[in-house]
Amino acid sequence: MDLLQVRNLNKIYPGKVSYKALTNIDLTIEKGEFVGIMGPSGSGKTTLLNVVSTIDRPTSGEVRINGNNPYDLSQEKLAHFRRRELGFVFQSFNLLDTMTVKENMLLPLTLDGMSLQEMKRRAESISEKLGIAHIMDKRTFEISGGQAQRTAIARALIHGPQLLLADEPTGNLDSKSARDVMELMGKLNKDEGATMMLVTHDAMAASYCDRVVFIKDGQYYTEVHCGDNRSAFYQKIINVLSLLGGQENEFPTVRV
Ligand SMILES: Nc1ncnc2c1ncn2[C@@H]1O[C@H](COP(=O)(O)OP(=O)(O)O)[C@@H](O)[C@H]1O
Ligand SMILES: [Mg+2]
Repeated sequence: MDLLQVRNLNKIYPGKVSYKALTNIDLTIEKGEFVGIMGPSGSGKTTLLNVVSTIDRPTSGEVRINGNNPYDLSQEKLAHFRRRELGFVFQSFNLLDTMTVKENMLLPLTLDGMSLQEMKRRAESISEKLGIAHIMDKRTFEISGGQAQRTAIARALIHGPQLLLADEPTGNLDSKSARDVMELMGKLNKDEGATMMLVTHDAMAASYCDRVVFIKDGQYYTEVHCGDNRSAFYQKIINVLSLLGGQENEFPTVRV
């Protein structure tokens, strides 16, 4: 079943000089699929994610999540839809410093007025899965970047969203923590069937996906599939990136 359908999507940023950030993008993500979006800096990755995540309206074209067009909803219903059906993970974690790991995780549920008992049950179950059960009472300045991102993923998943959207989730992490976070996302996808869309410029991170879609100058460029060999997939990703160019500062040195 298709969880996300993007059809003929265009995004123009208006202004003195308007800018066409996306041109005729089609993208389908099946339920349970883990899809990466890659492309050079400025190619429109974040724009695409923002349009899918209902943060930013498309100029034309259609977005359907689970068959529904979120842009048909009223402002109030849209806010509710976003909170219930979508989970967000960002490069900068976006945790609240004055709160503990647990309070950060539970924040979306508090907003919904869920019972304390049910909140406790979910917090326990998710924190186990994410390996953060032992830091639940720590404040965000007492934990590592990897733990902070795990907390952010826990917060994004606590509602049981239809779709998890991540924009450069490993961008602020060292390579070991980045790997840990990607392994965790891969596991959540396989074990829990969480559908995920990951924007990244990092080939290692992208290699945890089932499929990577490349965009260039706001247009679909190509896509590659993982199959059953992840290191071959990583190499395929590197090959496309080298064709795409524009990654000079982001490109890892590969030695064979
Ligand atoms: N709010 C905005 N107003 C005008 N132009 C924007 C805005 N956001 C992004 N852009 C432009 O759209 C293009 C795509 O940006 P973005 O989606 O952030 O790329 P990426 O995430 O791939 O680096 C860039 O040229 C960027 O400068
Ligand atoms: Mg971006």
